[in-house]
Amino acid sequence: MKVKLKYIYILLSAVLLAALSYFVFIRKSDPDSERDKILSSLHEKYYYLNLYGDVKYTGTAKCVSCHSDISESYHHTGMGSSLYKPDSGNEIEDYSKDFTVYDPKNDMYYEAYRKNGIYFQKEYRKDKAGNIIHSLEKKTDYIIGSGNNTRSYLYQENGFMYEMPLSWFTEKAKWDLSPGYQRLNLRFKREINQECMNCHNSYSGFFEYSENKFQMPLPEGISCERCHGPGELHVRRFTDKGNFFEAIESDTIDRTIVNPVNLPLEEKLSVCFQCHLQGDVRVFADGKKQSDFRPGMKLSEVKSVFVQDNYEKGDFKIASHAARMFLSDCFVKSNGGMTCLTCHDPHVTVKNSTKEFFNGKCLGCHDRNSLSPSKAGVDHGSGGNCINCHMHQGNTSDILHVNFTDHWIRKRTGDTGSGNSGDANDSEQKDKNSTPVTLKYFDFTNDGNSGLNLGIAYVMYYETKHPHPEYLKRAFPLLEEGMKKFPGNKTAQYYLGTAYYLDGRIPEAVKVLEKLVSSDTGNAEAFTRLGSAYEKSGDLQKAADSYEKSLKIFPENVKVLNLLGNIYYRTGKINEAAETYKKGIRIIQDNTAILTNLGDISLYQLKTPDAAFNYLNKALEYDPDKKETINSLGNAYLITGNKAQAEKLFNRVLSMDPGNIPAMGNLAVIYEDNGNENESRKMLLRILENVPNDRRAKEMLARLNSK
Ligand code: HEC
Ligand code: HEC
Ligand code: HEC
Ligand code: HEC
Ligand code: HEC
Ligand code: HEC
Ligand code: HEC
Repeated sequence: MKVKLKYIYILLSAVLLAALSYFVFIRKSDPDSERDKILSSLHEKYYYLNLYGDVKYTGTAKCVSCHSDISESYHHTGMGSSLYKPDSGNEIEDYSKDFTVYDPKNDMYYEAYRKNGIYFQKEYRKDKAGNIIHSLEKKTDYIIGSGNNTRSYLYQENGFMYEMPLSWFTEKAKWDLSPGYQRLNLRFKREINQECMNCHNSYSGFFEYSENKFQMPLPEGISCERCHGPGELHVRRFTDKGNFFEAIESDTIDRTIVNPVNLPLEEKLSVCFQCHLQGDVRVFADGKKQSDFRPGMKLSEVKSVFVQDNYEKGDFKIASHAARMFLSDCFVKSNGGMTCLTCHDPHVTVKNSTKEFFNGKCLGCHDRNSLSPSKAGVDHGSGGNCINCHMHQGNTSDILHVNFTDHWIRKRTGDTGSGNSGDANDSEQKDKNSTPVTLKYFDFTNDGNSGLNLGIAYVMYYETKHPHPEYLKRAFPLLEEGMKKFPGNKTAQYYLGTAYYLDGRIPEAVKVLEKLVSSDTGNAEAFTRLGSAYEKSGDLQKAADSYEKSLKIFPENVKVLNLLGNIYYRTGKINEAAETYKKGIRIIQDNTAILTNLGDISLYQLKTPDAAFNYLNKALEYDPDKKETINSLGNAYLITGNKAQAEKLFNRVLSMDPGNIPAMGNLAVIYEDNGNENESRKMLLRILENVPNDRRAKEMLARLNSK
């Protein structure tokens, strides 16, 4: 019932919007010059008029007013409801019974619940006696995922978006850690970046260089225009008949809106591949971002997608439908006869499509009578379910508890391609020591620029997935060669500088990045990277300048505020450091790295231990296991004379990290101070076992021995 109400609300607002924009459209425009402008593009690159420059998106509500049946049906698909706010009308989760998800690796409990119509997730920890010793709660702002398979939850702070630790798994009807969190529990700190958002929602106001800040409120769901292109001209064609529209009236195909079914093969696949082809790394063409893609283009104009060269044998992952379909003989041997649209009407959810519907699609190409006759296990004669035997349904390797359909159509499905090997999730990192993989362009996505993007892909793969030096080794020649041909490619310059930086070749990194920022003066990311390179080279003044320039472009980058604060701190500019850190926690109040730095600066420099306790305790409220912070708090106790409490904290660090040098050093000091020289000596020897020439441990030991 509630769902229906919501729909009426959408219809109403569509009517309102239509009325409002009527006034916008009757503004006086000059039809002749507009016509010239657009018609002059007719002979340019694209057939469709809404691919050009400033044709605007109108939003789905606009389309609803004329295409109500399609809109109603689309609203019930996964794509039509891919992102939305939680409310009682769309609740499918079980909030009623008591459940708790326990993460044994981190000794944390998680719960999701509703309180006065508002939704929350909570993390907590208990001591042996069952007392709650840590608790952290965040309000759920958005749900990502229709719930066809899973729902994950997002919260925002000042527009910065993060994923939450629990997800709802529809099929199993249970809560569990979010995909990828079994391996690495990022708690409330997994950033939702522009790429996630662009695949899961309409384009939303993203703050360039922010990593994860969006204009609030977010649009809700993937809009019609992601597959049909911007609708402004199309809507005007029917509401605002003028000279211009009469001039194109005679076209047999409506050039103001893209109908994907009329596109050539590569462009047709590209509409779906913008989101359904995830690959292992995605590299955007120089100066382009996802939102530059419009239906009717080739995907390679905007991005190249890279896969491992042995992906044939690889596991079947989420968002890999495109790559799997490409392996099928049906696709390969039908000469462009098979696309996603052969079997899917994107306005209709697969949940409402019967087996007969899909089997009918198979029989569109295969004649039942010419299939091999029945033998043991094969059921070609009697109308068995083709999908059951030829399109395996099962878990993907990256998301547990969820069934997906392997789109590699083939005779045998038992040999490979499913199961939970736990292989690379988009956010997961490989072990440094595992064998490096070879990346290759996915078909259709090579923009032919001399392997430059492949070089970039290797640097990205190194930085985000698998820090094996082999990738940098492969990237250098590709980048250096490619840049001879395309010296103005700024993305390549950035990644070449980054590769030098990651490889420890700092002077070369500085040189490339200095050149880049001299022409690309609004590139905050490049200024940040250059700042880090200067920092590594020991030029702290230049590092500070570069970070400041980055912050001029995007002032709310908390990571850069922390880096800049650290430089001020190291160069003795204590007040500037404190101010810079404080700016950071005004933006993200639970940034534990900054809170810890503020604690340290208050303790050691400003000599305000009360403030230090305050900051450090706050950091530990958010992250009770942050070792640097516990050590700092130990120091605060030590300095203020509470040795017993300090000792407890240092021991806690050692129980988590037996090789922690600062904790051992401080314990040695406390033991000596307590007159327990034997214990102190033991601790110092333990330090030297870990770091054989730790100067301070050696000195202390020498002093103790000479007593
Ligand atoms: C003022 C009414 C109106 C609005 C608003 C409108 N359309 Fe249409 N649309 C039409 C009409 C009329 C047709 C042609 C007849 C038909 O196919 O139903 C059409 C046709 C289409 C087609 C088929 C084109 C083809 O060549 O096959 C698509 C796709 C389409 N519209 C998408 C959209 C989208 C997306 C929106 C929102 C951005 C939208 N429409 C908004 C009236 C409208
Ligand atoms: C803007 C990104 C985007 C584009 C473009 C896109 N998809 Fe999707 N699609 C998704 C996402 C995300 C989901 C999963 C949504 C969910 O369930 O939360 C999905 C789900 C689906 C589903 C299953 C959902 C259901 O209810 O049946 C089908 C089928 C599908 N897409 C087909 C297509 C086809 C065919 C195209 C090209 C014409 C296409 N998609 C284009 C992002 C996209
Ligand atoms: C995921 C991609 C996708 C999205 C999102 C999408 N469409 Fe479509 N649409 C298509 C494709 C593909 C076709 C061609 C279907 C075919 O003929 O097989 C199509 C065809 C159409 C047509 C013309 C053919 C017909 O069936 O009348 C209209 C009108 C249309 N869409 C309107 C919309 C509206 C309105 C929305 C949003 C409520 C929307 N579409 C959302 C992919 C999409
Ligand atoms: C290249 C596009 C792309 C990117 C980038 C992407 N996803 Fe997805 N994701 C998809 C598609 C498409 C699906 C639908 C699954 C499928 O293929 O049926 C999906 C599925 C999911 C699901 C399961 C939803 C369901 O029940 O079907 C979750 C949760 C999810 N993605 C979260 C994320 C997060 C978080 C990020 C960013 C870290 C992200 N995705 C990045 C395309 C993408
Ligand atoms: C667009 C046409 C088309 C559609 C639709 C289609 N196929 Fe095929 N299929 C082909 C072609 C072409 C071949 C290759 C035939 C050959 O090699 O003689 C093929 C081959 C196959 C093979 C043999 C693959 C192998 O590994 O040897 C199987 C099994 C198969 N199809 C099953 C299906 C099923 C099941 C469906 C429906 C889900 C389906 N096909 C839909 C065109 C299609
Ligand atoms: C030969 C037919 C066929 C083709 C071609 C095809 N699909 Fe599917 N697709 C299916 C079937 C069958 C299902 C399972 C429906 C069900 O669950 O009952 C499915 C399910 C899906 C789902 C829902 C999630 C899942 O894995 O069950 C998505 C998303 C999807 N397809 C995307 C695509 C995309 C993207 C393409 C093009 C790259 C594509 N499909 C091409 C037959 C096809
Ligand atoms: C009970 C399982 C089962 C069902 C149901 C089934 N197949 Fe098959 N199919 C097989 C097996 C097993 C083979 C391999 C036969 C061989 O290699 O001798 C096969 C082979 C094929 C081939 C390869 C060519 C050939 O004739 O061997 C095609 C094409 C095919 N099936 C299509 C279909 C279509 C279309 C349907 C639905 C009408 C279907 N199958 C239903 C199990 C099945």
